[in-house]
Amino acid sequence: MPGVAAHYGRVRGVLDQITAALESMGLDPATGVDPAVLAPADEFHLGGHEATMALTASLGIDIDSAVLDVGCGLGGPAREMARTYRCHVTGIDLSPEFVYAAEGLSLMTGMERSTSFEVGDVTVLDRTDRAFDAATMIHVGMNVPDKPGLFGAIAAALRPGGRFGIYDIMRTAGTDTDLAFPLPFASDENDSHLATSDEYVAALEGAGISIVHVIERSDLVGRVIRRAADGPRTALNLGLVMGPEFPAMFSNLRAAVEGGFVQPIEIVAEK
Ligand SMILES: C[S@@+](CC[C@H](N)C(=O)[O-])C[C@H]1O[C@@H](n2cnc3c(N)ncnc32)[C@H](O)[C@@H]1O
Repeated sequence: MPGVAAHYGRVRGVLDQITAALESMGLDPATGVDPAVLAPADEFHLGGHEATMALTASLGIDIDSAVLDVGCGLGGPAREMARTYRCHVTGIDLSPEFVYAAEGLSLMTGMERSTSFEVGDVTVLDRTDRAFDAATMIHVGMNVPDKPGLFGAIAAALRPGGRFGIYDIMRTAGTDTDLAFPLPFASDENDSHLATSDEYVAALEGAGISIVHVIERSDLVGRVIRRAADGPRTALNLGLVMGPEFPAMFSNLRAAVEGGFVQPIEIVAEK
């Protein structure tokens, strides 16, 4: 999928950019960085850290868990899970640049043993080598046309009783308004594969995974956006990851959410 790879491959040297931003904040990456500081640049989804914690709270993850994070990006959610639940997280992402940055940020935060990252395309996921205790997918399904195929592969990677947490931007049922591009997840409509929450549910159930809950997260997202607008700015932001068009991408997405055309939705399901 060259379009998706090109969309997320806009910036070269993402890790260097983040390192320079940390240094401009008076931090020394060589002596260690608190992972929470990285959140404005490494939690690449609406609602940031708060949304990650909301999703993962009901996945039954504990100190013995092996968790699979598909489309892990720079590894912010993986590090937050590893830090909060003291588990091990394996992240897979299409972008070699992001995986390189994820590994560098885990080293910087002393989390290189509790996280590992691999370059891979989740549309051809085959992780039947081991049974994961839980899996997560955060803001990735919008790039995946064959959701039944992906959910089948995730079901095969989970142990019986293992939970799968999805947090994606989904099309609001009954709306088919054309969205303005670029969006944070797609440069144009060719790489945007939005689906409704009912379509996600049907694809999960078809893969033999039962639904635990479906929660619409617009309130959480609105609260986080307002708090960020009122709070202090830091040199860390997603412009370092996605380039100068990021503000336009974000404002197109915000307009689509506020217009009611798309919704940030969390789904937790169990094999
Ligand atoms: C919006 S970012 C979210 C990153 C991360 N989950 C987070 O919340 O911080 C979407 C990520 O999905 C990855 N992605 C999209 N399609 C993918 C695919 N087919 N296989 C693996 N990763 C993919 C992108 O490279 C990008 O890192």
